[in-house]
Amino acid sequence: MAVTGFHHVAVAVEDLDGAVDAYTRLFGMTLEHRERVEDQGIEAASLTIGESRLELLASLGPDTYVGKFLAKRGPGMHHVAFEADDVAAELDRLAADGAPLIDEKPRAGLFGLEIAFLHPDATGGVLTELVGRG
Ligand code: CO
Repeated sequence: MAVTGFHHVAVAVEDLDGAVDAYTRLFGMTLEHRERVEDQGIEAASLTIGESRLELLASLGPDTYVGKFLAKRGPGMHHVAFEADDVAAELDRLAADGAPLIDEKPRAGLFGLEIAFLHPDATGGVLTELVGRG
């Protein structure tokens, strides 16, 4: 069990269509997935270039986690994500190592992937996500 690589950087945006257009046009990124998740209050897109991936997060309303983030901090960097071969096992290992977790157990994330978040206090103030290989 291990963290096996980098998975994505996520950016909170006000205008998802505009952001997808900007990253595809400016940098030649390819749209991989786009998904609206009503119960999380977000619409998200993932884009790839080479082996790298960017996640764009837009809010469906002010009382959602992305809506609150945008109101407080404005658009910009939201989290970084690492790939893990076993998210549950990595959470146990990180908790045993004293890392503060937001999610004690893996949960369903975007695009059908198993995910969990670490508290930003674990990582120099940057919200960090683990993503299963799915
Ligand atoms: Co993410």
